[in-house]
Amino acid sequence: MASFTSTLLFLATVLVGITPAVSQPDDPSGLTCNDWGESIEGSVSIVEGELGWLSCPLFSHPSVYNYTSTQSSGQNLFWYRVPEGQDLEQPIASSSRLARDRERLWLLPAAANDTGQYICMLRNRSSCTKIAMRLKVLRPDEVVRGNDCEPPVTVAASPVIIPLQGGKLVDCPDLQDAAAVGLLKSRATVTWMHIIPNSSIYHIMSQPRCRPPESWTNDREVKGVRLQVHVMMVTYQGLYICTVRYQRGGTMLSYSRSINVTAVNPPSMHKEPTILVPTREKVFTVKQDTEVQLLCKALFPYLDSSQWAMWWMVDGKTLDKVHDHHRFSKTTRKVKDDFGDRTEESVLVIQDFQAEDLKREFNCSVKNERGFETRRVQLVEEVSLPSVELGCGLGVTLVLMLLLFVVYHVFWLELLLLYRSWFGTDERHTDDKEYDVYISYARNSEEEQFVLSTLRSVLENELGYSVCIFDRDSLPGGTITDETLSFVARSRRLLVVVSPGYASHGSQALLELKAGIDGMALGGHLRVILIQYKPVRRQGWVRELRRARVALALVRWQGDKSKELTSRFWKRLRVELPVRRVSGGEEGGKDVALMRLHSQNSTNSQTGLISDTVKHPHKVFNSAG
Ligand SMILES: *[C@@H]1O[C@H](CO)[C@@H](O)[C@H](O)[C@H]1NC(C)=O
Ligand SMILES: *[C@@H]1O[C@H](CO)[C@@H](O)[C@H](O)[C@H]1NC(C)=O
Ligand SMILES: *[C@@H]1O[C@H](CO)[C@@H](O)[C@H](O)[C@H]1NC(C)=O
Ligand SMILES: *[C@@H]1O[C@H](CO)[C@@H](O)[C@H](O)[C@H]1NC(C)=O
Ligand SMILES: *[C@@H]1O[C@H](CO)[C@@H](O)[C@H](O)[C@H]1NC(C)=O
Ligand SMILES: *[C@@H]1O[C@H](CO)[C@@H](O)[C@H](O)[C@H]1NC(C)=O
Repeated sequence: MASFTSTLLFLATVLVGITPAVSQPDDPSGLTCNDWGESIEGSVSIVEGELGWLSCPLFSHPSVYNYTSTQSSGQNLFWYRVPEGQDLEQPIASSSRLARDRERLWLLPAAANDTGQYICMLRNRSSCTKIAMRLKVLRPDEVVRGNDCEPPVTVAASPVIIPLQGGKLVDCPDLQDAAAVGLLKSRATVTWMHIIPNSSIYHIMSQPRCRPPESWTNDREVKGVRLQVHVMMVTYQGLYICTVRYQRGGTMLSYSRSINVTAVNPPSMHKEPTILVPTREKVFTVKQDTEVQLLCKALFPYLDSSQWAMWWMVDGKTLDKVHDHHRFSKTTRKVKDDFGDRTEESVLVIQDFQAEDLKREFNCSVKNERGFETRRVQLVEEVSLPSVELGCGLGVTLVLMLLLFVVYHVFWLELLLLYRSWFGTDERHTDDKEYDVYISYARNSEEEQFVLSTLRSVLENELGYSVCIFDRDSLPGGTITDETLSFVARSRRLLVVVSPGYASHGSQALLELKAGIDGMALGGHLRVILIQYKPVRRQGWVRELRRARVALALVRWQGDKSKELTSRFWKRLRVELPVRRVSGGEEGGKDVALMRLHSQNSTNSQTGLISDTVKHPHKVFNSAG
């Protein structure tokens, strides 16, 4: 029972497409037959008109079913066929064309209508087993061939390896089976043909790819039915097709098989495996917290056994034995095959490389039948590249330049004022002028209030300038023209408060403006500064003003924004006015102190300022004097 179970299991692994056992109602004994379904391995293709055979797949593993021993246990082999397109099993009647010999069914030769399913059944009175296989009879033109000169072959090429410079005797496949059959009474004759692969560099396009033995040199020959290679050459590689022929009755029976001959390096060569990469000197640079890939490349020379191994060790342990093995993985691939000498590459991938990994020993090891080699991978931590530092330096410089640029553009007024406060010269020491500022404005206008209440008061009280306002400072009784000219001449700056009606024909303001522009033109240490209280259309200006505008600084009052002493208006103005160091060097402090000019400085504060001036008129004269 146990052996039967093992038989079952064994066949289950061997056969594909197993179907459940079915009973054989036709069987007179009512015996149930074990049906192993259809064997894929047992399926056969034969060229129409050629000799062929079917082997019962039950006997393909003699340890399970041995033909000799089944005969002795009284079991008989029966053949059935299910022709293509039918589903009825028909017993095969032995004929001169279809003959049985031991476990084989011979087709002498195969006909196109032989295609179909074949069943072999092994049976005695108490047991029955059957298995099916498929036969396909192909027309010669249905067989895929590389070349017209090649005979059609339906069986895959058998590989044969011959060492270069070595020799070998090569048999035509299946010849022994055919020769053992009593049915084929005559002796077989075998013809050979060498087919040069068209990928080969030795294939010359103009020459035929099929080379019969007549064209061969002395290094190989056909000896009886076999192929004898005396001295193997690279050019002898390729397919060899052998065609076996038998004379039977009046007909010639034949079949063809192919052999794939490849050359390998001779056994006399060095056979120990060698590690090509890393070399003893090679040092890998690694970077912490990154994925590190270590490459190992080795050469395994050709050996018959073709057993080789390549593996990684970490601190003398294989990868699966390392405690943090999840961080390691490896991939191995063949990169080259040179006459059987294979070059293999193995990459060890280390996730998240750590500082302590630097101290670990990573060894790549290789082994085959003849030898063993191991090599440690030298690791060194990557030093930051100078180019990175260079880049950083450049970046910092650029950022600094940008910062300076921004600082200059935003704070240029402040910087200018600071510079002046340090290096500017006080004009009072170089000229003999009485006033710092002469204010010229249109009388009876909106600007008048601004001049009297804001401009004058800040310039005098906060910034410490001496201010001259004609209406206030002129003495009654003098000639207006002379006095105006003399006042303007005695001032360092002429502040012109531009307004729509400014310097209308024949006005006091026009006189002041002319005096100022003349004084400036004559180099009388006088400068004219324009102040715009409210936006004015340029066309409304008098001709003198329009001409002069190009050369003059214009400071704009920007409403509430300009009320603080730290605003742009006052800074701009101060830049234009003479350098004045406020006593105690507290210039900066004064700037920072916010001077709020109340927005309601309408009548109340205005009258306050004016009344203040009225109360102490001498104050102005004293300071001016
Ligand atoms: C089959 O069995 C016989 C004896 O039972 C033995 O001589 C023969 O070698 C066996 N054949 C195989 C292929 O195992
Ligand atoms: C199959 O074809 C062969 C000849 O090609 C013929 O002798 C034979 O009778 C045919 N068999 C059947 C079942 O048609
Ligand atoms: C039939 O064959 C089986 C082996 O498969 C054997 O054990 C049995 O004895 C045979 N029966 C007879 C009646 O010969
Ligand atoms: C070889 O040549 C044949 C025709 O001569 C062509 O059909 C076939 O594709 C070629 N094979 C290769 C691998 O180039
Ligand atoms: C012959 O064998 C070589 C190497 O084993 C293989 O690359 C090639 O494809 C084979 N050629 C044929 C026609 O089977
Ligand atoms: C690792 O390789 C070096 C040679 O590079 C060798 O000396 C060392 O013994 C090897 N370590 C192990 C554990 O095999």
